[in-house]
Amino acid sequence: MKRIPTTVFSEWAAIGRDERMAKGHEVAVKSMLDYALKGLDHYNFIDAGCGNGWVVRLVKAHTGCAAAAGVDGAQMMIEKARSIDPTGAYFHADLSNWAPTKKVHVVHSMEVVYYLSNPKAFIANVYKNWLKEDGRLIVGLDFYKENTVSHSWPEDCGVSIMQLLPEATWVGFFKEAGFRNVQSWRVDAKENWAGTLVITAVK
Ligand SMILES: C[S@@+](CC[C@H](N)C(=O)[O-])C[C@H]1O[C@@H](n2cnc3c(N)ncnc32)[C@H](O)[C@@H]1O
Repeated sequence: MKRIPTTVFSEWAAIGRDERMAKGHEVAVKSMLDYALKGLDHYNFIDAGCGNGWVVRLVKAHTGCAAAAGVDGAQMMIEKARSIDPTGAYFHADLSNWAPTKKVHVVHSMEVVYYLSNPKAFIANVYKNWLKEDGRLIVGLDFYKENTVSHSWPEDCGVSIMQLLPEATWVGFFKEAGFRNVQSWRVDAKENWAGTLVITAVK
């Protein structure tokens, strides 16, 4: 039986699988952050689908970062984030209907947006309600059409909502939301692995 993503990931946090997942995402995330944060000073940052909050804590340690927050729909992920970093800003919410009270310069999201039932609406909502003018959205995806080895994951992980879309569709979602300078590339591609698809653009 398949279950909704946030239920599965809450369980992953409870059994410590969040840490292995974070390790697996590290190479791609570091390259995404290098790109998105380059030259920024005094910026505000949100990790959409932050898991145990490891990226929030990494970014908070940068000297140029004014504030970093994380949002996740899995209760146990947020509890874990708060237990590691009790003064951190971690919100337990569904990304499909959440927005920050104050708009930010950078929204980062690794391995999250295909779990949403309407990723196109989410990207449009980030554009409209999360980002300041000239703010950047950067998204990393391992589950996408061109990465054929990922196609079995919904069965392997028992997750009910996983949108298998090609790169061109993801790029289209950014353009249709109104983003400019939409760029995409793959990080760490190798044999039998098309790499992490990174899509980024500016408001
Ligand atoms: C593959 S994990 C990635 C976590 C983190 N970004 C990382 O790299 O370690 C996907 C995360 O997205 C969250 N998520 C999935 N659907 C969500 C939704 N509708 N609202 C909020 N969070 C969601 C899950 O709870 C999970 O923590």
